[in-house]
Amino acid sequence: MNELDLLVESAREQFAHSATPADLENAKAQFLGKAGRVTELMKGMAQLSVEEKKTRGAAINLAKQAIEAALNERRQALQDAQLQAQLKAEALDVTLPGRQRGAGGLHPVSLTLERIQGIFGSMGFDVAEGPEIETDWFNFTALNTPEDHPARSMHDTFYIEGGTPGAPNLLRTHTSPVQVRHAVQHVKQHRALLDAGQSMPEIRVIVPGRTYRVDSDATHSPMFHQCEGLWIGENVSFKDLKVVFTAFCRTFFESDDLVLRFRPSFFPFTEPSAEIDIQFQDGPLAGRWLEVAGSGQVHPNVVRNMGLDPERYIGFAFGMGLDRFTMLRYGVNDLRLFFDGDIRFLSQFQ
Ligand code: DAH
Repeated sequence: MNELDLLVESAREQFAHSATPADLENAKAQFLGKAGRVTELMKGMAQLSVEEKKTRGAAINLAKQAIEAALNERRQALQDAQLQAQLKAEALDVTLPGRQRGAGGLHPVSLTLERIQGIFGSMGFDVAEGPEIETDWFNFTALNTPEDHPARSMHDTFYIEGGTPGAPNLLRTHTSPVQVRHAVQHVKQHRALLDAGQSMPEIRVIVPGRTYRVDSDATHSPMFHQCEGLWIGENVSFKDLKVVFTAFCRTFFESDDLVLRFRPSFFPFTEPSAEIDIQFQDGPLAGRWLEVAGSGQVHPNVVRNMGLDPERYIGFAFGMGLDRFTMLRYGVNDLRLFFDGDIRFLSQFQ
C-alpha cells in the first residue's frame, strides 16, 4: 500500500470512530482542513517538476476524493442513526386507541323513570313534583292517616327541625302527599268552573321522586324512589285503575301475558285499597307473585282535603317503587347497588 492509500485508509478509520457529527468534523479537519494532511501533501508538491506535479497532483486528488467520499458516507450514516434514535425516543404507536372523553349515561332508575313517564304520558298523564321536605299535614294528616298510625313513629320517619309544635317537618315517606298538593293547585286553577257548578278537567298525573324511611337492607334503602299516580274525575272507577295499571305493567315489562292481581289491602288514604302483584309467565321469575304497588279508590276525606266534593269527584291512586321496578326489569337483586355509585355496575345499563 502506498502512502496515499494508507492516508485514505487512516481517514476512513478515524471517520468510522467518530461517534458524533462534532467528532466527525474534527476528524475531517485533520485530513482536509487548512493544516490537514491532504493540504500538507499539496504544499509538498512545490519542489516537483511540472511532469511530476501532474501525476502526483492527480494521485493526491484521487486520495482527496476518496477521503471526501468516506466523510460524506459517514456523515450520512451518523444522520441516519440520529434520526432513528429520535424516532425511537418519540415513538408514537398510532395503532393504540386514542384517549376518549367518557360519555355519561342515565342511571338505571332514571331509565325506569323515563320509561314510566313515556307510558303514562301516552295515556294522558301529566308529571308533577313536590318537595322532599314535607309538612306533617301533607305527608300524613291530609292523607287521612290517624295520629297513632305506625308510619308516623320516630322509628319509621326522619323528622327534622321546623314545622309547627306537635307537627314537625319531615323527609316525605312517600310521594302520596303530592296527590293533595297537586289537586289543590288544580282546583285553584279551575276555581271559576267549580264555582259555576261546571265540570273541571280531570286530574291525571304521575309524581315521581325521592322518598325517605328509617330502613336499610338489601331491599330497603333510607332514600328510595317512588312514583305516585292519581286520576280524579266525575266518573273514574276501580275498573279504570285495573285497565290503566295492567296496560302500564305489560308495556313496561314488554310482556303481553303478564298477569296482575289486585289483592285487598289497607291504606288510610284509599277505600277500598289493594296491593298490586304481578306474575311473569316466563323467565327466571315465572310463576311467582311479586308485589309492585299499592293502590285504591281515593278516600272521601282525602278528596275533601283536595278541595273537592267527594259526592261528585272520585278516582283512584297508586304508588309504586321505582327501584323495585328497575330491579325487576334488569334482574338486580341488591337495591344498594343502585346507590353505591360503582361505575362498573352503572355502565352496564348504557
Ligand atoms: N304511599 C304508599 C306507600 O308508600 C303507597 C300507596 C298505596 C300509594 C296506595 C297510593 C295508594 O297512592 O293508593 O306504601
